[in-house]
Amino acid sequence: MTDILQDKKLLLIIGGGIAAYKCLDLIRRLRERGVIIQAILTKGGLQFVTPLSVSSLIEDKVYQDLFSLTDEAEMGHIRLSRENDLILVAPATADLMAKMACGIADNLATTTLLAANKPIIIAPTMNSQMWANPATQHNLNTLKERGISVINPADGDLACGEIGTGRLAEVDDIVAEVEAFFLNKIDGPLQGKKITITAGPTYEEIDPVRYIANRSSGKQGYAIATALAHEGADVTLISGPTNIEKPRGVNIIDVKSARDMMAATENTLPADALICVAAVADWHVKNANDQKIKKQGNDLPIIEFAENPDILKTISHHENRPKLVIGFAAETENVLDNAKSKLNKKGCDWILANDVSGTVMGGDQNQIHFITNEGLENWPTMDKKSVAEKLAHSIKEFFKE
Ligand code: C5P
Repeated sequence: MTDILQDKKLLLIIGGGIAAYKCLDLIRRLRERGVIIQAILTKGGLQFVTPLSVSSLIEDKVYQDLFSLTDEAEMGHIRLSRENDLILVAPATADLMAKMACGIADNLATTTLLAANKPIIIAPTMNSQMWANPATQHNLNTLKERGISVINPADGDLACGEIGTGRLAEVDDIVAEVEAFFLNKIDGPLQGKKITITAGPTYEEIDPVRYIANRSSGKQGYAIATALAHEGADVTLISGPTNIEKPRGVNIIDVKSARDMMAATENTLPADALICVAAVADWHVKNANDQKIKKQGNDLPIIEFAENPDILKTISHHENRPKLVIGFAAETENVLDNAKSKLNKKGCDWILANDVSGTVMGGDQNQIHFITNEGLENWPTMDKKSVAEKLAHSIKEFFKE
């Protein structure tokens, strides 16, 4: 699958903040992902990075001057926004934000921003008092009201020696915002389809410091969420606690227990499809304690269990049942027989069965038996991303019909 950012066209406006040096890393990261970049370096930006370094990294010329005869003969300030899909201002200084809010057009960057007909994302950075100043906050709100997206500055040590909010967001986060922007714009075959996915483990509390969980990493469910978002679906991912990076471009609802996951899933209805990938604990602790359970001599605590709701089964029989309900069956023996009977017991449409006696849980590979009421397909061993893409393909075919 090609990278979502491949061949996307981005106009980067580099403002004059000390953090401008970070835009070189930002450019490198975006270029690695296939983004085609044009850049405007403001007079302030020029104090921190050189046109040569920006130009070398974007592999194109750098625009600087509103009154450059050669550039403006081609109406540079208009063309630069028309030719790109997105405008990113990073770093955005307090001055640039103020000028944008007031519609001032006194240099190439501000004139291009005023003439822009493309979405704009700004990544502000400044001293924390400048950021907190009512003037900046007022400008920020004005820009937000006009539909400009803001990547908030981070907290920490500032170049001026003070500590507070004002650091440029991490390069990773800026790239992620750019990615999310393009993911939300995908006009794919699953455009308009609302798909809910449960993923990861659930935690069932014993007391405030102890819980019962399982080995699910969330990798397979997250990969499915990403694959479906790439097809244009409106994905809600209901995730138990995991340690892996969250997918971009999907709505994420974090939950802990099976009962929370059940409620969150029900809240997403009506939906077109539900995919239950989560390894939901079958039981919760009936006598969970409000306080940490203390050792009591030789007496061992007695944990009583109560059954958890079965999300897959409940939604399969729900009055608002999605048109397509898909479950997973993680088995360690009699994989096919158990999975086939699960299709009926749960009342879902498809089951993806896998043998988890090996390293599937937490690992990167998976081998799926794809079971429907019509029959069985044995998929070869693949990485979880490929499983996700193959499943997304089957879902696309389903909705085509
Ligand atoms: O019954 P079993 O746990 O083997 O079923 C697995 C399938 O059912 C998975 O799709 C899992 O996400 C779903 N499930 C659920 N709620 C439960 C237990 C399992 O949604 N309480």
